[in-house]
Amino acid sequence: MTLDQTKAEALREMLAELRRLAALPLERGQTLPPHAYTSPELYEWEVERIFRREWLCVARAEEIPQPGSYLRLDVLGTPLVITRDEEGELHALSRVCRHRFMDLLPPETVPEQGCLKRLTCPYHTWTYRLNGQYAGQLAGAPLMQRVDFDQAGCRLPAHRVEVWNGFVMLNLDPGAAPAAPELHELDLRLSGHNIADWVSVHTQTWEGVPANWKVAVENGSENYHHMGTHAATLEPVLPGRDTEVHECDGRWFTMFTPLSDPERDDTGPGRHPRSDQGPRPGMLIAGIFPQFVLALLPDSAVSIRWLPTGPATHDTRITAMVPPGVPDTPGFEEQMVGIRAQIARIQEEDLVAARGVQRGLASHPAPSNGRFSHLERPLWQFQRYLAERLL
Ligand code: FES
Ligand SMILES: [Fe+2]
Repeated sequence: MTLDQTKAEALREMLAELRRLAALPLERGQTLPPHAYTSPELYEWEVERIFRREWLCVARAEEIPQPGSYLRLDVLGTPLVITRDEEGELHALSRVCRHRFMDLLPPETVPEQGCLKRLTCPYHTWTYRLNGQYAGQLAGAPLMQRVDFDQAGCRLPAHRVEVWNGFVMLNLDPGAAPAAPELHELDLRLSGHNIADWVSVHTQTWEGVPANWKVAVENGSENYHHMGTHAATLEPVLPGRDTEVHECDGRWFTMFTPLSDPERDDTGPGRHPRSDQGPRPGMLIAGIFPQFVLALLPDSAVSIRWLPTGPATHDTRITAMVPPGVPDTPGFEEQMVGIRAQIARIQEEDLVAARGVQRGLASHPAPSNGRFSHLERPLWQFQRYLAERLL
């Protein structure tokens, strides 16, 4: 067998294993095999079949707040910029100049976000509009009159964007079905929260996290690990064992962890009745495969977006949000110091898990598949999602 044939055979075997796993009931659910988190072949297949076809959450709309605002993004090696044009419409444009391929907003000299009237290439100053109707059309190219060159036909490719509950969703596939219908039922579950109106108050990015993207997504899709990873931070207030995982199927899931109740009987596992029968406050988690999780608390929310950058690396971007008006209340700055510190601490704890799991996955000989708890239902659902997209 040639090397290519060996790789193709390994991919076929892995997909056959995925088919087997996705057919198991949750009671017999098992993890993916370790190779699924290290294989360059499977990664390429995931990029092709999932990330280049699926709606991806890439930003909050208020990160691009006004006409002229832009946000630079790199998605799977594709340099992009999200712009808001003069009419207030959002666009996801290629950042690759149509002259000689220069990055229009090089990170060496241009901030990640800001405000612009036009996109001017820093190499030979070809200039593009932000306007929606003529998205990215060339507005000017100096010294091109002596050659046969069609300025009007020269534009930056635009990708599809939709705004869902204030989140910017991007799709690299021009033929993809719209995002909204698939998320309609999730909208209903979140309808009491008015997340579209919430405001981002803090965003932080962790680049080059040394773990496969699925390690991060799986970690963010269960609260079972509160009792280990977050034993001193989240577990005392949001005990993982009390999590109620909802029965979902398809692209999204939800689960709810009540805030710990000092009045409860704490002698055994499971949920405990409260003395007053009212609804308990807690954390509602909504996840959208392949790369987004939103954690909603009564007075704040955190969204986490992961983007793979290779078979065993990814970027994590976390945004904290609060209800409208809250940033104007007295003492909010001090509250923000606390929110920022809390996010950094919890993410550091999750990074220990991500790195540690990836080390385990890469070990030789490969360990056999692990087993799921009932609290890991979203991971079981994730396998079925993967099977649907990859097989
Ligand atoms: S590469 Fe952009 S103007 Fe030349
Ligand atoms: Fe965590």
